[in-house]
Amino acid sequence: MCGIVGAVSERDVQGILLEGLRRLEYRGYDSAGMAVINGESSLRRAREVGKVAALADAISANPLSGHLGIAHTRWATHGEPSQLNAHPHMSGERLAIVHNGIIENYQELRDELKTEGYVFTSQTDTEVVAHLIGKNYQQEGNLYNAVKTSITRLRGAFALAVVHADEPDHLVVCREGSPLVVGVGIGENFIASDQLALLPVTDRFMFLEEGDIADIRKDQIKIHDRDGQAVERTITRFEHGSDSADKGEYRHFMLKEIYEQPRVIKATMEGRITETRVLEQALGTSAANLLENVRHVQIIACGTSYHAGMVARYWIEDLAGVPCSVEVASEFRYRKHVIQPDTLFLCISQSGETADTLAALRQAKKAGFRAALAICNVPGSSLVRESDLVIMTQAGPEIGVASTKAFTTQLTALLIFTLALARHNGLSEQKEAEIVQAIHLLPGQVSDVLALDAEIEAMSKAFMDKNHSLFLGRGSQYPVAMEGALKLKEISYIHAEAYPAGELKHGPLALVDSEMPVVTVAPNNDLVEKLKSNLEEVRARGGELFVFADRAADVKPEEGIHVMQLPSVHEITAPIVYTVPLQLLSYHVAVLKGTDVDQPRNLAKSVTVE
Ligand code: F6R
Repeated sequence: MCGIVGAVSERDVQGILLEGLRRLEYRGYDSAGMAVINGESSLRRAREVGKVAALADAISANPLSGHLGIAHTRWATHGEPSQLNAHPHMSGERLAIVHNGIIENYQELRDELKTEGYVFTSQTDTEVVAHLIGKNYQQEGNLYNAVKTSITRLRGAFALAVVHADEPDHLVVCREGSPLVVGVGIGENFIASDQLALLPVTDRFMFLEEGDIADIRKDQIKIHDRDGQAVERTITRFEHGSDSADKGEYRHFMLKEIYEQPRVIKATMEGRITETRVLEQALGTSAANLLENVRHVQIIACGTSYHAGMVARYWIEDLAGVPCSVEVASEFRYRKHVIQPDTLFLCISQSGETADTLAALRQAKKAGFRAALAICNVPGSSLVRESDLVIMTQAGPEIGVASTKAFTTQLTALLIFTLALARHNGLSEQKEAEIVQAIHLLPGQVSDVLALDAEIEAMSKAFMDKNHSLFLGRGSQYPVAMEGALKLKEISYIHAEAYPAGELKHGPLALVDSEMPVVTVAPNNDLVEKLKSNLEEVRARGGELFVFADRAADVKPEEGIHVMQLPSVHEITAPIVYTVPLQLLSYHVAVLKGTDVDQPRNLAKSVTVE
């Protein structure tokens, strides 16, 4: 969603803010803006529709130098993308604010402020907050108190950063439901919605808790919690290299992140498995206790993370023999559910800030689940902080909006978790060793698939002028087909649907003709012969098939059947390996179509609003 960044420093903050916005642009990118205070004399603002580059051009023509500033990159919720709706929003000429999240009671507050004479220039919920703080500032004469009083009136989710030209030495920030991190510098301090924005200036971060309000000066950070108590928040160091937010030699972040998979899958397994065993302790000291009596697993996630959960269901039921349900968070949170005894609640999220997933977790904690486990990629995120047990994926920052390495590392972590759970449910040592050995082979197998890149690129040409496509898989490959279809639609804008191959003749077969490419993942498992029959059904209707198949599966290329042979892999780890060619296929189709691969239209990386 939107991204915010702020800085107070001895040096000019304009460059820091602009670089922060560039790094946050993956979150939202329909407009961007910045407000900078230069001494007590002035607060100046620039806002542009489009990408951060447009703002950078405007600022280079008309610099906004100063030692205190806030900036924002927007993903529209209230009001179209336009200069007037872009942040920062102001109340009068001296107060400016940036906001992430949604103010649910904004209409009521807007009506109230209008009757008091406040004039609105935008359609946003944020401008309402600006005027509310502006009004309270007039009464309190102090920015910190004005923010504190104002937020008691807000319903919804927000992270705010506020500055006032009469108080040019600090910014006031707060969070309730949207992420906010303080970057700790030397003689300068920063804030942002994501630590990634601040990596060029610091690697030390404090994560604000829900309800925190903070006064940030260049040499001092004061935080109070929701009850007004002064609190210290632990400083953590960022662990990944600060160049993670650079594309390096790659044309797009997405391609870089696809290629990082052998390394990050290895990082995710490291320290958690020996040659033959899962180290349960490495999942947390309470893991053994929590897993001992789990009788049911409820998985909750959104999008790509949901697909990871769908794969995990096959593993959990197959290896641990524990019933497992999987549901998208936005559905789960709005229905009555029956909680089976001793259910483990498992949330999967790359960002750890997805609003629906967090809302489901918060409900679950009240509803009496046995414990909450999170599989997450962002240390310090809300999901991590609010769960009983956490398995961090080690994907490093994922910048491309289309999730790639987060998915395969989620699967790696989920498989390790499954083995730990299965051990409590009678999985033999021999079977555990067999699968752990297969996990060790993953980095090499993924590298082997990456070596097919040029062939996959050649294959992608067949999709360029198509409007629709079908993805087929069976068993644990069905969610892989779903993930492949999601990747293709989100970055190439080609309509793609996934079906379990056995469902084909129950309806979708009617769509098949020469204009409907059919992509199939076919590892060598018990279902491969059945899958081959499904392929015949497609071929008989003139459909063109693109099959990613195990060498040993013996799928023969012929007229209308393009076969790409993949290395032989263990049936259990196959979903991880078979995801990779589908990522590459989507990537190359999108590049050929000339779409904005890393920032596809209408999407945002971290969906922190409902
Ligand atoms: C698709 C994609 C999204 C996310 C979804 C959940 O490529 O990235 O579908 O997977 O928005 O996000 P997280 O995992 O951050 O909860």
